[in-house]
Amino acid sequence: MEASIAETPEEGRTRDEAERSRTLPSMALIGRSFQFSSSFNDRHLHKHCRWLWLSVALVVLGFYYFGVKSYQVLSGVNTDNFPIKQRGEEHVPRRKASRVLEQVYHSADVFRRDFKEMEEKFKVYVYPDGDPETYYQTPRKLTGKYSSEGYFFQNLRESRFVTNDSAAADLFFLPISCHKMRGKGISYENMADIVMAYVESLIIKYPYWNRTLGADHFFVTCHDVGVRATAKVANLVKNSIRVVCSPSYNGSFIPHKDVALPQVLQPFPLPAGGDDISQRTVLGFWAGHRNSKVRVNLADAWQHDPVLFITNNRISRAIGEYVYQKQFYRSKFCVCPAGSQVNSARIAESIHYGCVPVVMADFYDLPFNDVLNWRKFSLVLRERDYGILKKVLQGVTRKEYRILHAGVRQVRRHFEWHSPPVKYDAFHMVMYELWLRRFTIRY
Ligand SMILES: *[C@@H]1O[C@H](CO)[C@@H](O)[C@H](O)[C@H]1NC(C)=O
Ligand SMILES: *[C@@H]1O[C@H](CO)[C@@H](O)[C@H](O)[C@H]1NC(C)=O
Ligand SMILES: *[C@@H]1O[C@H](CO)[C@@H](O)[C@H](O)[C@H]1NC(C)=O
Repeated sequence: MEASIAETPEEGRTRDEAERSRTLPSMALIGRSFQFSSSFNDRHLHKHCRWLWLSVALVVLGFYYFGVKSYQVLSGVNTDNFPIKQRGEEHVPRRKASRVLEQVYHSADVFRRDFKEMEEKFKVYVYPDGDPETYYQTPRKLTGKYSSEGYFFQNLRESRFVTNDSAAADLFFLPISCHKMRGKGISYENMADIVMAYVESLIIKYPYWNRTLGADHFFVTCHDVGVRATAKVANLVKNSIRVVCSPSYNGSFIPHKDVALPQVLQPFPLPAGGDDISQRTVLGFWAGHRNSKVRVNLADAWQHDPVLFITNNRISRAIGEYVYQKQFYRSKFCVCPAGSQVNSARIAESIHYGCVPVVMADFYDLPFNDVLNWRKFSLVLRERDYGILKKVLQGVTRKEYRILHAGVRQVRRHFEWHSPPVKYDAFHMVMYELWLRRFTIRY
């Protein structure tokens, strides 16, 4: 199955179809006007033909002109891979600035209204059981690679969403932390056992699980173990909502049921990027470990390129303070290739520092994908497109870049955690994703 979030040939096909369907009515019109004029007598026909041919020529010229223009807009390379344009969409820069910004959402109005309703009504029951000194309830810490998990646990308790009234609850939270387990040196295999024992104890003690076989329950982890932690409870895999940082749907992650948790490495050591496009002189940047095929390919293809800054060595701290982070400010695009997992903290870092992310991770269910239109603030390429990276980046016009950059700044708040949580931050976005999945039938 080749259904990655990256542009697929299918998308290209739909665009072709859209192009064709836009062309067809006009062709039909020409056909009709020809039929019409052919019903005239010869003398008229002769006169009409001149006009007819003139209009045909104009129409053809027009098609050619706009066709070429939109082709240029879609970058000089394989246009199927260029993600700004959506099917049937107009050329973006013609729209008013405010409209353009709204476009980072699939539907800003629906989101705003539904979000408000969520804030008023959404209730979550947190199971009280489990020794808080071991794996339950409290996060280990709010820093580091898995801080998203810690923030979620803490934010939920700080929020107005928690209820101890099970009858009022929309969803039930299984508060068991893989990050904490890992901190205690527990192996991946044992994590799945501990999760199983915990869930089974709740199934016996409380009546809630059996009403839906777990469909109104959710589980959260940012640890690399991800969905594998749930592997030993069949209904947890099939029915419950699993919120994980490594949402690869080439595995048992189920998009639309499960939720992608953004991996955010907080706190950010340097402030957010601003209106600073003129300072961004490096076309594309990536520095990191060579721990996946796409990273090896990227490094091999581009590490000596004079325009791109691609290196498979992490920038060492010895060179100077925050040299790595400062490079995000200087770059227009920051490449975020999959590593050992599809996800990468680089995406949130790029967004924070105002660098347009270029996601190269097949099978990645991008965070908040059903609310945010990733094409308006990132480029999404297939892993095998590493060879055309430079062409794609060079093909983005200034106007398009300004829109992507403005989009990055607009979505930034959705990729930040706070304690206590604030409206529209990463916590609230995850809650919103859960809210969208709250409909279950209880028996
Ligand atoms: C919920 O908590 C409040 C205060 O802690 C308590 O008064 C109330 O009885 C609890 N309700 C239930 C259903 O446990
Ligand atoms: C839920 O169902 C399981 C399996 O049928 C059963 O063992 C368990 O006791 C039930 N839980 C409750 C609280 O009734
Ligand atoms: C998808 O998963 C299968 C089985 O786990 C694996 O063999 C394959 O390499 C994966 N494909 C990608 C592109 O990750």
